[in-house]
Formats: sequence, C-alpha cells, structure tokens
Amino acid sequence: MSVLPIARMGAEVLKLRAAEVTEFKTPALQRFVSDMVDTMVDANGVGLAAPQVSQSQRIVIFFVPAARNEGVEFPLTVMINPVITPLDGAQEEAFEACLSVPGLTGRVMRFTHIKYSYQDIAGTTVAREAKGFHARVVQHECDHLDGILYPQRMANMSSLAFTDVIAAEAKAKGEQLELDEEG
Ligand code: NI
Repeated sequence: MSVLPIARMGAEVLKLRAAEVTEFKTPALQRFVSDMVDTMVDANGVGLAAPQVSQSQRIVIFFVPAARNEGVEFPLTVMINPVITPLDGAQEEAFEACLSVPGLTGRVMRFTHIKYSYQDIAGTTVAREAKGFHARVVQHECDHLDGILYPQRMANMSSLAFTDVIAAEAKAKGEQLELDEEG
C-alpha cells in the first residue's frame, strides 16, 4: 500500500484527456487502484481521479459519506471508463473543493440527476442513477478525466475563496460552511 503524491493545478497531467483502460483484472491495475484508495483516505477526500496521481487513465474512485446520504454511507466505488448522461436539465450550485486545488473552494453548477455507467475492475459494465451530492461527486471526478478542474466550471469567479477564510467568517456568523465535495 502506498500513498501517492497528488498533482496540483498547473500540472500538465491534469489538463489532458485521459486514456481509456483496455486491460482489466491485472495485478498492476489492482495495485494502482489500491494505491488510489490509500491516497484518497490519507487526503480525507471523497473522490480521486487517476490524473490527480499523475496517471492519465480513465479511472475514478469515490464514496458518499453518510452525512451526505441520509445517514447511510454509499460505499467505495471504482469506476473505469465512466460515461455520464444528465437525466434532465436541472442544475444546482454548491461549493466544491479539489485535492488538486488545495485550500480553495468555489460554487459550481452541476446536474442534479444523472445516470452513469462504467466498467468495474473486472471489466464488467455497471449502470447507475444518481442525485444530489452523489451526482455532483461523479461529475467532479469525471471532469478530471477530461482535463477539467472545477474553477473552469464556475460561472461566477467571485465565490472562489480560501476555505479557512470563509469557514471562519461563517463561524463568526454562527453558521457552518458545508463543502459539497473534496476530490
Ligand atoms: Ni478534484
């Protein structure tokens, strides 16, 4: 098990369209995914895409914490070659953060209801539907596979902020800052 270094905004690998995975069930793939999990857990993220650990391949891992899914944790999912389809035009805006853009947060519009499909680590195709936070995480992580970081999705850059600054300001007002994503 290894914690891998996380590429930060500016790195070329984060700007590329990542390559499809064509070989499944290999020891190298198993080991790499296991290292991605170690890296995500170490960084306290809810998701991680392979380009964030400098591997330009279409692999994403994520989970949904219990607090964001009516008290029930949505378990760790490994998605290979994922494809997203919005199920309607509805979108909502919420704060996102990214392990490749440390310290910052900003409000991003995302589709609220999507379906997505992917191959699992054995190459079997899986299809799912997702709403809300779950849908947001999947969209954020899959953007990494197309070289897109969340600031590129922000309609209004005025909400881009240092997380500790707006968390302190929210606390002073007796509010709690809810970050919708860190991956
Ligand atoms: Ni990210």
